[in-house]
Amino acid sequence: MRDTLNVGLIGYKFMGKAHSNAYRKMGMFFDPSLKVSMKAICGREEPWVRESAEKFGWDSYETSWEKLIARDDIDVIDITAPSNAHKEIALKAAEAGKHIFCEKPLALNLKDAREMLAAVGKYKVKHQIGFNYCFAPAVQMAKKLIDEGKLGQIYHFRALYLQDWIIDPEFPLVWRLDKNVAGSGSLGDLGAHIIDLARFLLGEFDKVMGISKTFIKERPIVEKMEGLSAKSQQSAPKGKVTVDDATLFLTEFKNGALGSFEATRFAQGHKNALSFEINGSRGSLKFELERLNELQYYSAEDAPGTQGFRTIQCTEDVHPYAGAWWPAGHVIGYEHTFVHELYEFVQSIANDKPTMPDFNDGVKCSQVLEGVEQSANTGKWVSLDTL
Ligand SMILES: NC(=O)c1ccc[n+]([C@@H]2O[C@H](COP(=O)([O-])OP(=O)(O)OC[C@H]3O[C@@H](n4cnc5c(N)ncnc54)[C@H](O)[C@@H]3O)[C@@H](O)[C@H]2O)c1
Repeated sequence: MRDTLNVGLIGYKFMGKAHSNAYRKMGMFFDPSLKVSMKAICGREEPWVRESAEKFGWDSYETSWEKLIARDDIDVIDITAPSNAHKEIALKAAEAGKHIFCEKPLALNLKDAREMLAAVGKYKVKHQIGFNYCFAPAVQMAKKLIDEGKLGQIYHFRALYLQDWIIDPEFPLVWRLDKNVAGSGSLGDLGAHIIDLARFLLGEFDKVMGISKTFIKERPIVEKMEGLSAKSQQSAPKGKVTVDDATLFLTEFKNGALGSFEATRFAQGHKNALSFEINGSRGSLKFELERLNELQYYSAEDAPGTQGFRTIQCTEDVHPYAGAWWPAGHVIGYEHTFVHELYEFVQSIANDKPTMPDFNDGVKCSQVLEGVEQSANTGKWVSLDTL
């Protein structure tokens, strides 16, 4: 094998930028076993993709993902196009023997996600999905405390993922509001992250019961889209919103714990407020993404009179990934989680080892998403083993 891993990235907007930034920083702070070369970036519009290649530091660019995959000098295909493009690209990339990193949710539905998992298995390529939040040092620390038994028997997992960016009824009909492109709305976009965190920290879901709502059913047709922002002309014609604006659901985990989840883009005042709380017989943990260096820990075994939630600053060498960055207390942020996930992906290729979260985790997440959607449509509990 070469001592360099050549990456081809598809997409140059929100996630394209986040991944580009991560590849650039990786070698400066971590020591991956293979050098990473930012070989080519791909998008459909030449002027924009050329500009992104120059700005983000890619050696070359392509305007067709088929051409990118066909290139012999590309080892990895990194997919940051919207969800409706994931499957076709991944199937072709796997067949061409490329390792694949794919943004979440893995596909538009469970069936497509399973096809993608089968393809990476068949062609024996490495695969990972972009659930970046489990790579925050504080989340990794939460996992460590749970695995050490510090929480004892776990009774509750409670998660919220709250945003407010489409609360204005005049906000245009961006691709995230189109089921054919996004698969689902708040559920697959925000809910997918908290489902993955729950699986990472507690294990598998057994059954789910959900409720979904689309508050604004029609929106102005979009003129220009840019990441999470978009413009439409005044008095533009309206089109139908085909996804959920908000989804809430309950679960029972296989280990007997109970879970509650809320994913909404209609929580006024909340920009990217992912949070979770876990309660067990010996203690509790709390995490908020907007304060991602911190983990709140309550131990029921502290001496009476001194009990209470303590704030652990997860910035010390003992905290996963933190030691690679700055001295203790010199906090990190959102972008660093992408460096961690892509570093793990590079290591899995270099050392021929499985990584996580992989396409199998992507399928398990899609199974929960599909169960919740089915339950929201029927008003009944859905056992995930039936899907
Ligand atoms: N991990 C996270 O936290 C996170 C955050 C945001 C988005 N996402 C996921 O990342 C994916 C992309 O979201 P985004 O916010 O970056 O979207 P975006 O609209 O900002 O960017 C999408 C990019 O894909 C390109 N593209 C679209 N179709 C293409 C095609 N056929 N060929 C080549 N390029 C194509 C667009 O030109 C654009 O550069 C989605 O699956 C989304 O769910 C993940």
